[in-house]
Amino acid sequence: MIVGVPKEIAPRERRVGLVPDALKAVLDLDCEVRVERGAGADAGFPDAEYEAAGARIVDTGDAFAVDLVAKVRPPRARGAGGHEVDSLPRGSALISFLSPLDEPELAGRLAAQGVRAFSMELMPRVTRAQSMDALSSQSTIAGYRAVLTAATTLPRIFPMLVTAAGTLQPAKVLIVGAGVAGLQALGTARRLGAVTSAYDTRAVVKEQVQSVGARFVELDLETGDAEDAGGYAVAQSEDFYQRQRDQLALYVAKSDVVITTALVPGQRAPLLIEERAVRGMRPGSVVVDLAAEKGGNCEVTVADEEVVVEGVHVLGPTNLPSEAPAHASQMYARNLTTFLAHLVQDGSLQLDLEDEITAGTLLTDAGRVVNKRVAALLAAAGGEA
Ligand code: NAI
Repeated sequence: MIVGVPKEIAPRERRVGLVPDALKAVLDLDCEVRVERGAGADAGFPDAEYEAAGARIVDTGDAFAVDLVAKVRPPRARGAGGHEVDSLPRGSALISFLSPLDEPELAGRLAAQGVRAFSMELMPRVTRAQSMDALSSQSTIAGYRAVLTAATTLPRIFPMLVTAAGTLQPAKVLIVGAGVAGLQALGTARRLGAVTSAYDTRAVVKEQVQSVGARFVELDLETGDAEDAGGYAVAQSEDFYQRQRDQLALYVAKSDVVITTALVPGQRAPLLIEERAVRGMRPGSVVVDLAAEKGGNCEVTVADEEVVVEGVHVLGPTNLPSEAPAHASQMYARNLTTFLAHLVQDGSLQLDLEDEITAGTLLTDAGRVVNKRVAALLAAAGGEA
């Protein structure tokens, strides 16, 4: 089986699907690897390193003309040069982030092209799949980078300092949504010396928040069963969100930095911080909204922009993992090769559709969108499933 690694073409994307150190795991599966010229350059992996690790360096077309393509970002239109999906041979396979719940039409297009596509977003959050969970690995990087972004924007420093020139008070950092990104943000902020606290609707994370030295904020809200079987948050009622916004505003006002990460899969991000709460913060304070791509947790967020409201900076970066492309790619490649090893036997794909990891991630097969939720979304949008 030949595995192809194209260069990512999404704007400002610096990650790559496989890094040189990951090639051995693929070659050990009796596969060959073709890497597009320059695919890893932006992440700090020159062609020579891929060649030394056993890959062949090829042009774009040859990186797609393979049995399985390993990508990071969903295939997309290439300016004047057609669509990446059109370069995938009928009967080939694809492993990538594919945004299936947000872009069901792409799944339809992959199915029509006869591509067997596996979506990294659909990886079940079960213990057995932890090492293949790319959403988590990339959120780890995002949480870390969000804190650094906030720290360099804030006109203050994070740690408490007692110096001959006076005493500096530590920055107060509030994290809303203590999942993978949030917990990493808490750890990073604390390592920089901030006083940290966090709120989450899932009560189970209270201990995790405390274990990284942060205070868990208790709001007067009945969250009920806030977690689904997959470990993800469930949507709350609009009345709940209004009460949450009102109560959270008091904590937001007392924070120098607020980082929001709240997400309910497949839905618009819940609105948790109103503009009036932003106005209640001290000028110079910073909000980093990691949910910007899904509409944002903060009312004034604009994706990939910095909005300033009465001196408060609200940032909505949508691709923080790409700002640490070497480690983000390294982690992604580990997720991908572990998943590949799960799918490949004797040098070819052997799918066990009784297996929850294989069946859960399989998006298109035999010309159809096989994920029921995505097929329903596509049908509702008027596309063919
Ligand atoms: P996660 O599912 O592990 O964490 C989200 C957390 O938000 C969960 O703990 C959930 O219980 C919590 N939450 C949901 N509704 C809430 C509410 N109303 N109030 C408080 N907490 C609430 O997700 P993960 O992996 O940590 O990702 C977090 C977010 O970061 C997602 O929106 C993801 O798309 C985004 N992300 C953004 C990146 C960027 O560059 N901007 C990169 C990677 C992820």
